[in-house]
Amino acid sequence: CGIVGYIGCKDSKDILLKGLERLEYRGYDSAGIAVKNNAGVYVFKEKGRIADLRKIVDSTVDANMGIGHTRWATHGVPSFENAHPHQSESARFTLVHNGVIENYEQLKSEYLQDTPLKSDTDTEVIVQLVEVFVKEGLSTEVAFRKTLQLLMGSYAIALIDREDNQTIYVAKNKSPLLIGVGDTFNVVASDAMAMLQVTDQFIELMDKEMVMVTKESVTIQNLAGEIVARTPYTAELDVSDIEKGTYSYYMLKEIDEQPFVVRKIIQKYQDNHGELMVDGKIISAMNKADRIYIVACGTSYHAGLVGKQFIEKIANVPVEVHVASELGYNMPLLPEKPLFIFISQSGETADSRAVLVKVKKMGYKALTMTNVPGSTLSREADYTMLLHAGPEIAVASTKAYTAQIAVLAILAEATAKARGINLDFRLIKELGIAASAMEILCDMKEEMEQIAREYLATTRNCFFIGRSMDYYVGLEGALKLKEISYIQAEGFAGGELKHGTIALIEDGTPVIALATQANVNLSIRGNVKEVTARGANPCIISMKGLEAEEDRFVVPHVHELLTPLVSVIPLQLLAYYTALHRGCDVDKPRNLAKSVTVE
Ligand code: G6P
Repeated sequence: CGIVGYIGCKDSKDILLKGLERLEYRGYDSAGIAVKNNAGVYVFKEKGRIADLRKIVDSTVDANMGIGHTRWATHGVPSFENAHPHQSESARFTLVHNGVIENYEQLKSEYLQDTPLKSDTDTEVIVQLVEVFVKEGLSTEVAFRKTLQLLMGSYAIALIDREDNQTIYVAKNKSPLLIGVGDTFNVVASDAMAMLQVTDQFIELMDKEMVMVTKESVTIQNLAGEIVARTPYTAELDVSDIEKGTYSYYMLKEIDEQPFVVRKIIQKYQDNHGELMVDGKIISAMNKADRIYIVACGTSYHAGLVGKQFIEKIANVPVEVHVASELGYNMPLLPEKPLFIFISQSGETADSRAVLVKVKKMGYKALTMTNVPGSTLSREADYTMLLHAGPEIAVASTKAYTAQIAVLAILAEATAKARGINLDFRLIKELGIAASAMEILCDMKEEMEQIAREYLATTRNCFFIGRSMDYYVGLEGALKLKEISYIQAEGFAGGELKHGTIALIEDGTPVIALATQANVNLSIRGNVKEVTARGANPCIISMKGLEAEEDRFVVPHVHELLTPLVSVIPLQLLAYYTALHRGCDVDKPRNLAKSVTVE
């Protein structure tokens, strides 16, 4: 979910709606805004997207303050009732919330026995509590603080009071939240992107802080009521980074940006002499570790699988890769000196954060690899490596994946160097070659569009097979396809399919096979024969130097370890064009959110 707020001299509706559009990547099941003027508070909410909300907002209402929310459903189905903002019983208080209140049932039975609730959400409990405490005689500020002291869980909150034209009450714990500072206005947003249209000055909030925002002031307090001073920083984002430009979808723009992102990464992690440059503290932590644990979710997990190969093969340190939501509750037996690497595009994924909190409590060191400087995972880890991919807006991740792979490769080589391991290749050079190959592939859209049309446009299911690196890329290719085209797609280790899943192969079932690894080239081709003999419609994507006549597409040759950077591009494009052919919303697939801030 994402939240916004505005207080100033202009009409707030459009600023809030534009802000919410920029936050749609955080969820788009339902959305709402509440705006306030001297006549009262007006709430508009709707199931669906911000575009649907826009249609029902009354354009004749003029109001210089307001709050807004876009939702990814957790407690309660996506519906009008469960959409934010929520109001207290008398409608004096109106609130938006991102996060999950873990003790809401307990708070309900303890304080709200006599309050009829309108929704199934944990959020409504917060706003009702504020009203209950105000009715007991507390001021809004004190009632809000008392409520916050009772809440367990995560929250980013903005609250308005019908009786107060001057203030938006804001609070944060674990969910991201920033205050944007302007001249005679101030804004609130889950992400700086949402408010870049009005300011580039932002104040970061820490956990368990509450803020009173007026059009001229920002007063931060801790939950004990003590004032905290903090100066704004300038967001290093450009509005053009977050616009689609001439593209119809962000996803295609982001696919095309990949070669440039890899070049930028090379530049950022290189010194003036062209030598790899990674923070010495990180390298020393890598050096000290007797085992590395990579923790991530979704696409970032798939990048982690590739990263394991780099670190083990180049730097000779053993690595385990874990899905965050499992590791948190099923910690393996750890060695003496583990180092945890969290990979997260957003730096906000709650599943990953839960593990980070746990390992920090256990006293271990953690490194976060993220695209978002200052994100929660970055702040809470000991070290950060940035992905430098620029804002990724399409829900299906593309350039963050290749950026993660490039940064992991750099980390592996820098560690190898520090450990005195001699490599027979120079990664910076190999990454440069890969970037050029990626550029060639981005120009082969017509070919991929044709393959998408022939193989995938009307299929019910599809399998991706590969061995070694190709297996991991196959997992990512399948995830991309299912996320945005809703085709049931699964990635398999080439040798494993025959141990069960081959039963699903029918006449014409598409099987996309990756063949970019010399040592398993013959075996993967053998697996293709097995499925073809059972009726499958194979599509082999191989690499120059390993190609055969039967191949449908050949990617340029790159260093064997870096093949994921190139072989993933045709798979991303296949998913993209298939989704287009099937009339799907490429950038905002159903049920998903880009940044999942709940466990
Ligand atoms: C969500 C997104 C995925 C993403 C995953 C991890 O589920 O829909 O695309 O891979 O979160 O996100 P992160 O920001 O931690 O990389």
